[in-house]
Amino acid sequence: MLGDTSFAIHPGKEKKDGAVIYRDIGDLIDFNKEGMTYNFLCSNGNVAVQFYTESIVRVTMNPKKNPVLNQSKAVIVNPQSVAVKEEDTERKLSLKSSEITIHIQKSPFRIMISDSNGRVIVSEDKHGMAYRENGEVIAFKQMYDQDHFYGFGEKSGHLNKRGEKLEMWNTDVYAPHNPETNALYESIPYFMTLRNGKAHGIFFDNTFRTFFDMKSSEENYSFSAEGGQLDYYVMAGPHPKMVLEQYTYLTGRMPLPPKWSLGYHQSRYSYETEAEVRELANNFIEKDIPIDVIHLDIHYMNGYRVFTFDKERFPNPEKLIADLKEMGIRVVPIVDPGVKKDSEYPIYQEGVLEDNFCKYIEGDIYYGDVWPGSSAFPDFTEEKVRKWWGDKHAFYTDLGIEGIWNDMNEPAVFNETKTMDVDVMHRNDGNPTTHRELHNVYGLLMGKATYEGMKENLNGKRPFLLTRAGYAGVQRYGSVWTGDNRSFWEHLQMSLPMVMNLGLSGVAFTGPDVGGFAHDTNAELLTRWTQVGAFTPFFRNHSAIGFRYQEPWQFGEKYEAIMKKYIQMRYEWMPQLYSLFYQASKQGLPVMRPLLMEYPDDVKTYNLNDQFMLGDNIIMAPILQPSVTDRVVYLPDGEWVEYTTGQSFEGNHVHLVHAELEDLPIFVRKGSVLMQGEWNSNQQKETKKLTMKVFASEKEETYRFTFYDDNGETFDYDNGEYVKLELEVHSTGETVNIQVTKEGNFLPAYHEIKIEVVGAEKSVFVNGNVSSVINLLN
Ligand code: GLC
Repeated sequence: MLGDTSFAIHPGKEKKDGAVIYRDIGDLIDFNKEGMTYNFLCSNGNVAVQFYTESIVRVTMNPKKNPVLNQSKAVIVNPQSVAVKEEDTERKLSLKSSEITIHIQKSPFRIMISDSNGRVIVSEDKHGMAYRENGEVIAFKQMYDQDHFYGFGEKSGHLNKRGEKLEMWNTDVYAPHNPETNALYESIPYFMTLRNGKAHGIFFDNTFRTFFDMKSSEENYSFSAEGGQLDYYVMAGPHPKMVLEQYTYLTGRMPLPPKWSLGYHQSRYSYETEAEVRELANNFIEKDIPIDVIHLDIHYMNGYRVFTFDKERFPNPEKLIADLKEMGIRVVPIVDPGVKKDSEYPIYQEGVLEDNFCKYIEGDIYYGDVWPGSSAFPDFTEEKVRKWWGDKHAFYTDLGIEGIWNDMNEPAVFNETKTMDVDVMHRNDGNPTTHRELHNVYGLLMGKATYEGMKENLNGKRPFLLTRAGYAGVQRYGSVWTGDNRSFWEHLQMSLPMVMNLGLSGVAFTGPDVGGFAHDTNAELLTRWTQVGAFTPFFRNHSAIGFRYQEPWQFGEKYEAIMKKYIQMRYEWMPQLYSLFYQASKQGLPVMRPLLMEYPDDVKTYNLNDQFMLGDNIIMAPILQPSVTDRVVYLPDGEWVEYTTGQSFEGNHVHLVHAELEDLPIFVRKGSVLMQGEWNSNQQKETKKLTMKVFASEKEETYRFTFYDDNGETFDYDNGEYVKLELEVHSTGETVNIQVTKEGNFLPAYHEIKIEVVGAEKSVFVNGNVSSVINLLN
C-alpha cells in the first residue's frame, strides 16, 4: 500500500535506466510487386505496402519474416485494385494513386505520404520503423506544431490528446476513472490528426498491448506494441468526415439498431426479483415516463450461472417478459463470459466435454474468479465456440428477449492482473496464440458470437447488444457504455469528450451510465445528467449495489417533472435521431459529434469539451456543474436560434447563456431543419404526427438532410421496406423551397410530414408547388 502514499515519489526510488535501444529497419535492399502488394526487403526487416483504396494505404513491417497480411480481426475488406504509378530513382521510389503518393527514401528506409496536392500527411525523419529484441515494434512519425489528436476509443480526459500517452489494454476499472486512467474497457488503436483544418487517420491494427505516445517529444509521436507486427493504415481524409468514412470502410459500420434500443433504458445492479421489476415497470407507466428497456443485472441468474434464471427470484420469466412487452418495455439481461465451474451445470458440462474453454498449452482449463466463483472462459477466438455460444442464446430468445448486455468481457478476473493469465492459449481458428496477443479482441469476439447468435435466433428481428469491452470494429456488433463511472459532476463532464472520441473512433452508439454508477447521486446531478443523456446516442440510467436508487422519481416531484420532460423529448426527437443512426449505419459518422467535425477550420472548436453536436446542425450546451445557471457557449460560424426560447444568436461568438435547472440550452443553425415526432404513451410509442421544423433564416441558405424511417424492428428494409427522403431546403428572405426525392416502399403511421417554419412567416414550396406538407402516400 506504500505506493498510495508520498512514498511513491521518494527520491531514492528514481530509476536510472539507460536509453532504450531500437533497431531501425535499415536500408532498402530490394523490392518487388506481387499482385497488389509491394514487398520491400530491408537490411533489418521486411515491409509490405498495399493500397486499399485510392485514399487508404496499409504499411506492414515484420522484423523477422515476410509480413502476414490476412490476420486482422478488425478489417473486413480486401485491397481494391488501384492503379499505382511508380517512379524509381537511385535514392527514392514513389508510388502514386489518384489521392495519395507514398514517397520512399531508400537509405535509410523512410516513408512519407502526401495527398494529391502535395500536402504532407505523415512523414518520418531521423526515426522511422523499428523494433527491440523483446518483440516490441514501434513507428515514429513527425509531429507538427499544428497537430491535434482525437479518437483513441474510450479514453478519459479531454478531447484533444496531444500531450498524452495512451495505453490500449482492455481493463476492468471499477475505480478510479480520472484523467490519467487511460487503459479502460475498450481498445481502439486508432486516431485522427487535425492539422490546419485538414484531417487524416491512422489505424494501428495490432491486438497486443499498444501505446500511443503523443507527449514525450515535440518532434515525433510514436505508436508501439509489445509484440506482433507493425501494421497500420493511413487514411487520407482530408475532411474529418471522410476520415471516418475511410476508417469505417475498413472496420465496418454499425447495423441499424432496433428503434426501441434508442429509447430510455433503466438499470440497476440489481433489480433483484420479479416483483421489483414489475413495480418498477408499473411506476414508469403510471407516471407516464417513457421507457423502452429494463436491464436485468447478475441477480436474475441462479448462482450467477449464465443462461439460467433464479426460479425463486424470478418464478416465471416468460410471463414477466410478455407482460412487460405489452406495456411497451423490453427486458435485456446481462451475460458475462465466465461459466461457473460446476460439474452439474449443463453449460459448464458442455463447455468441458466439447472442449470450448480457454486452456493452458499443457491442456489444463484456465479458471479465474468472477461473480460465480471459479469459472472457465469460452475461447471466442474459435468459430466453433462462437457458434456454440451464439446458439445458446435461444434460451433467451425463447423467453421473448431481443437484447443482451455483455459485461466483464475484457475478460475481467478478480486477481492482481485483473484478467486471464497472458500465457493461456487461444485456438484462434487454426492459428493458436497466447492471450497476450488476443486479450484486446476477447470482448469483440464475444460480441460477434452474441450478436450473430441472437440474430440467428430472432428470425428476422434486429438484436440489440450492449458491450463493455471491444476492439476496433466493435460497432459491427454492439453499442458500448463507458463502464463503471461515479456520481461525480467531474464524470458527467468527462463523459462528453469520452463519448465524442468514441464517436470519432467509429463507435456511434455509446453513452455513460446516466446519474453515475457508483457513489450516491443527488437530485441536481441526476437531473442535469438526464438532460444530457436524452441526447447522447445510448441513454441508460444505471446504478450500483449499495448506493442510492436513482430512478427519475427518487428525488421528489420537482425533479421528476424535469426528468420526465427530457425523457419525453428524447422520444419527440426520435425521428431526427433515427435518421442520424441511419447515417451512422451507412457512412460511419457519429450521431454525437465534437464541433471540430463540422467546423475543422475553426481552431476554437479544437478542444471544446463541454458542448456537442447532434448531427451537423444542432449544438447542445448542457450545464455540467452544481449550482450553476449560467454558462459560456461558443457558437461557430452561422446564425443560431435557441430551441426553447426562440432567441437568435450570432455565430463566431462566445455568449453567456442562462439556464435554470429545467433548461438545457440547445442551438439550431438557422436555415436547417429538425424532424419532430410526438410522445404518446409507453404502450403506443409510434409517432402518428411528424413535423419538419424549418428554422427560418433571414439569409439565403441551402441545407441538405436525409430523413429515414422504417418499421424499426426487422430487416425488411433490405427488401425496400423503408422511406428515405433526400431533402434540400433552400431559404430566402420570403420563401422556403423544399426539394424532396423519395425512395422506398414503407408507409409510416403518419402519412405526411407537416412543415412548420419557426421564427418567421414564409411561403413554403414543396417540389415547386405551394404546400405545407410532404405527402408520403405518393
Ligand atoms: C460491472 C459492470 C456493471 C454491473 C456490475 C454487476 O461492474 O460494469 O455495470 O452492474 O458489473 O454486474
